[in-house]
Amino acid sequence: WDLSHANTLGLPCIAERFAAPDSVEALRDTLTGAREQGWPVTLLGGGSNLILPEHLPGLVVQPAMADWWQEECSNGRVRIHAEAGVNWHRLVMALAARGLWGIENLALIPGHCGAAPIQNIGAYGVELADVLEAVEVLHLADGSLTWLSPEACEFGYRESIFKGALAGRVVITRLVLGLSRQAGPRLGYGDLSSRVGVSPSPQEVAEAVCAIRREKLPDPAELCNAGSFFKNPQVAAEKAERLLGEYPEMPHFPQSDGRVKLAAGWLIDRCGLKGCRDGHFGVHQRQALVLVHFGGGSARELLDFAARVADSVRERFGVELQREPRLAG
Ligand code: EPU
Repeated sequence: WDLSHANTLGLPCIAERFAAPDSVEALRDTLTGAREQGWPVTLLGGGSNLILPEHLPGLVVQPAMADWWQEECSNGRVRIHAEAGVNWHRLVMALAARGLWGIENLALIPGHCGAAPIQNIGAYGVELADVLEAVEVLHLADGSLTWLSPEACEFGYRESIFKGALAGRVVITRLVLGLSRQAGPRLGYGDLSSRVGVSPSPQEVAEAVCAIRREKLPDPAELCNAGSFFKNPQVAAEKAERLLGEYPEMPHFPQSDGRVKLAAGWLIDRCGLKGCRDGHFGVHQRQALVLVHFGGGSARELLDFAARVADSVRERFGVELQREPRLAG
């Protein structure tokens, strides 16, 4: 199975076996079969936050259940059930068009719903954790289905239990999101507020977010990438103070735990790396946090290139960058 077109980084990858079950029952059967055969299982969503090796042994499973439905609650609240294979951006736009508030700031994030909780997708001041009510998971060990509360998901900035204790142990099968008919625009991030009218609809906000993203972020259909390649680092307050002494213009965002979040894109940019190219990979020219693949490269080369970018930031600022996309296999 050639997965070279199933990952937005466009990395060449041949999987030994592939399955795209379109029901929870079929998913369970597929996983039971893999367990009996002793095949390692790799889960694939939209392939937009993943670094694939050239050869993936065992079985790649891409959940393809793709229904979603709406449940009315009291007080103008609405519950949305979305199966793992639903395209996230299309869901956002469909709900915004229905006048529902909650995930409009998360428009144009690539990938499937099932992957959204893994890295707790976030943008423009909103995170999935803000609206998530429950996650249904299938356990690989015994095929059982259980529900996890948001607390049980241990969400943090680009973090969750699905990257930690539950990594490789469950498949996310369904999300339940809590949305509202009552106007609740969140326009505090960047210049979002100047892009919409006084009482915008969720659709207007979603479209403004799409416009901002299109200006800054490369479309993977045109230039291969996985969005932000690094997380924004969080440093101790004293460290941020020291850096601000030297770079007063440095973007910095104090966190509730006393630490300070820095903008990795700014740090990379300040190393003079924005727009640079080395072989098959480069730093995007409009957003330095995004690494791009011009074609013909491999995962190994990408990781080496990323390590050189991180080395520059460490040498110049003494700040450690952490990779955001996950390594498969
Ligand atoms: N900046 C630069 N140069 C750059 C890039 C950024 O100076 O090349 C500065 C900007 O001017 C701004 C600051 O850094 O002052 C932050 O930049 P921006 O608002 O573009 O956001 P970001 O911190 O770089 C994060 C997310 C994005 C998300 C945006 C908007 C992470 C790792 N990335 O980027 O998420 O869309 O905020 O909320 O947290 C993704 O995860 O794939 C992603 C695109």
